[in-house]
Amino acid sequence: MPLELHKARIVQKLHLVPIERRLEALHEGGFNTFQLNTMDVFLDMLTDSGTNAMSDNQLAAMMQADDAYAGSQSFIKLQKAVEDVLGKKYLLPVHQGRAAENLICVAYVKKGSLIPMNYHFTTAMAHITDKGGQIVELLYDEAYVVNSSHPFKGNMNIEKLEEVIIQKGAKNIPFIRMEASTNLIGGQPFSMQNLRDVRAVADKYQIRLVLDCSLLGENAFLILQREEEFKDSDMGTVMKTMTGLADLCYFSARKLSSSRGGGIATDSMEIYRELEALVPLYEGFLTYGGMSVREIEAMAVGLYETLDESVICQSPSFIKYLVEELDNKGIPVMKPAGVLGVHLDAMQICSHIPQSQYPAGSLAAALFLISGVRGMERGSISNQRDEYGNETYADMELVRLAIPRRVFTLSQIKYVEDRLTWLYENRELIGGLKFNYEPPVLRFFMGKLEPVNDWPQQLVAKFKEDFGESL
Ligand code: F0G
Repeated sequence: MPLELHKARIVQKLHLVPIERRLEALHEGGFNTFQLNTMDVFLDMLTDSGTNAMSDNQLAAMMQADDAYAGSQSFIKLQKAVEDVLGKKYLLPVHQGRAAENLICVAYVKKGSLIPMNYHFTTAMAHITDKGGQIVELLYDEAYVVNSSHPFKGNMNIEKLEEVIIQKGAKNIPFIRMEASTNLIGGQPFSMQNLRDVRAVADKYQIRLVLDCSLLGENAFLILQREEEFKDSDMGTVMKTMTGLADLCYFSARKLSSSRGGGIATDSMEIYRELEALVPLYEGFLTYGGMSVREIEAMAVGLYETLDESVICQSPSFIKYLVEELDNKGIPVMKPAGVLGVHLDAMQICSHIPQSQYPAGSLAAALFLISGVRGMERGSISNQRDEYGNETYADMELVRLAIPRRVFTLSQIKYVEDRLTWLYENRELIGGLKFNYEPPVLRFFMGKLEPVNDWPQQLVAKFKEDFGESL
């Protein structure tokens, strides 16, 4: 049984509104869970980004922040934390992870550039294509198998990486991007050995290696659990070994350090100089980078706390618990359990809904309707159209139920399990969606959809039949 190794000292009241209100809220929000208002949401499992619980020490640190445009003591503390935890000397602060992606792409990506990566993240890809570059995803086939026991589905396919470099030419590849705990394939880690192999190829062809460290702590935690060489190691050693293999590390502090903000860290003065001028241009002065000094203080403490296994283990252990419970009931879910959240396989659960009607978006909407649990579509709606305007259907249609660090209790997780079981039994009642407003960039954030028929009403009717007036 997963156990909370913390206690709640400040709490926030939740709202479980009636199903009729949830149906209205879905219509108001265009059946897009990003567009819901938290007053209508019971358990917010949209993301762990900026929603991990903060510690008492983080909050205390925020009270001691040093307000200064330049040379703030808070920034000096953060620099030290980055050096101690990530092992990198130079830090460029930015307001969040995608700002780091923007600066890296402004500096290195141009028309014709190709960026090999284990898998894309939405904002990373958007910034690369925005600057005229393209991406190529180089996972092994096992990464796309939902029902798997492979411990490292985030591994990069080394043979393909070399093929791509030879084909495209190293000079057109400004960097290779590796993403820790590969988000969009279900929070799946890569192994240290794989990262070393990528490093060797990068060295051979003199290409920079960029590591997205947003979920570094979780990837390190799974390396401790799953990679023989590190079974007696510790979080600090594993994290520094990983970052030591990369030329440039960037992160969303909204994830990595349970705060807000972000950063780019490197040991190379050359890389630092290439990016330095972009920080004051796009973000803010070099000692705050668009962040409040209070956040910088919380970030510094949060970085040290990622070294504490009892902080990092809570979310993965709850995820493992829920994945196992759902799997025992035959509900298709991404396996093995990864980090960040539980990923439902909408391709199977809603196999009656064609990809053109967005099975993952439909499942996310249906789950909210019958439970007030807000998940996130991670399927074709989260993909962008190709340069000719055609849909690019996602490899996997997932609904992510994020389990932020130290936020939910086990009984709340059991509620999710209970509602999902009911929904799975009634899955034939879930229908498809179509866009009625589709923005050209990052459409999953702002897009509005509508159901293809009256399936939400039918689902409400069945819910009422089974549960009466119960919420
Ligand atoms: N890289 C990864 C792996 C991420 O998961 C995220 C954000 C970013 C970069 C961008 O960072 O949000 O601070 O700008 N992931 C969030 C999520 C949004 O919900 O998974 P950001």
